[in-house]
Amino acid sequence: MSDTKKKIVIAVDGFSSCGKSTFAKAIAARLGYIFIDTGAMYRAVTLFAIDEGAICGDRVDEGAVVALLDKISITFRFNPERGASDIYVNGNLAEGRIRGIEVSDRVSAVSAIPEVRHKLVAMQQEMGRERGVVMDGRDIGTVVFPDAELKIYMTADPRVRAQRRYDELTAKGDHVTLEEIERNVRERDHADMTRAISPLRRAEDAVELDNSHMTVAEQMEWFEREFAKRV
Ligand code: DC
Repeated sequence: MSDTKKKIVIAVDGFSSCGKSTFAKAIAARLGYIFIDTGAMYRAVTLFAIDEGAICGDRVDEGAVVALLDKISITFRFNPERGASDIYVNGNLAEGRIRGIEVSDRVSAVSAIPEVRHKLVAMQQEMGRERGVVMDGRDIGTVVFPDAELKIYMTADPRVRAQRRYDELTAKGDHVTLEEIERNVRERDHADMTRAISPLRRAEDAVELDNSHMTVAEQMEWFEREFAKRV
């Protein structure tokens, strides 16, 4: 196999709603790699915990969430219409519900539980064992694959990110306000960066991409240059 065909791991970390998934999905399609949305996995655990009564209102019963971990099976199935994999929780399609505000408001608390991270990180490492993956998340370049050949740290202005998520949710018919979305974005930034375990931070060897004012096409041009440097 020639060196240009060598498959690598691409880690895409960064804040919520800064277009990581869109970007990571486009890269994976371009390279024929598998795209893994690790945020969806934390969201899936949160949804299951809500459904099983381990989260009541805003109160997350950590012990109850941990006790559920052995009862949850998370799988991905490729959906050609979306060009990405849908997430299933114990065989039930969870893709739609995991993106709603009910889950978004509680996922930071769930993703700060050490046992939850331990289980999901092990699953993610297994998924990327043969390389050829683009994984998006918060701790991919620092914890899950510290040896990733290409690490990208994405940022964008919080207002731009709130507007993007607002447009996405209202297009789906969700009744939300821009203010509540911006509050959620800022709260999650804070929680993600200050949590004790695996906080969001830029890996020393990551390249930064601020896409506040970039189109997807411009981001892809940027990616091609970075990728060419590595293979
Ligand atoms: O990328 P997202 O907004 O769908 O992620 C949802 C939440 O999951 C986010 O608040 C932080 C958490 N998360 C994490 O802690 N580690 C990851 N690798 C991915 C997401």
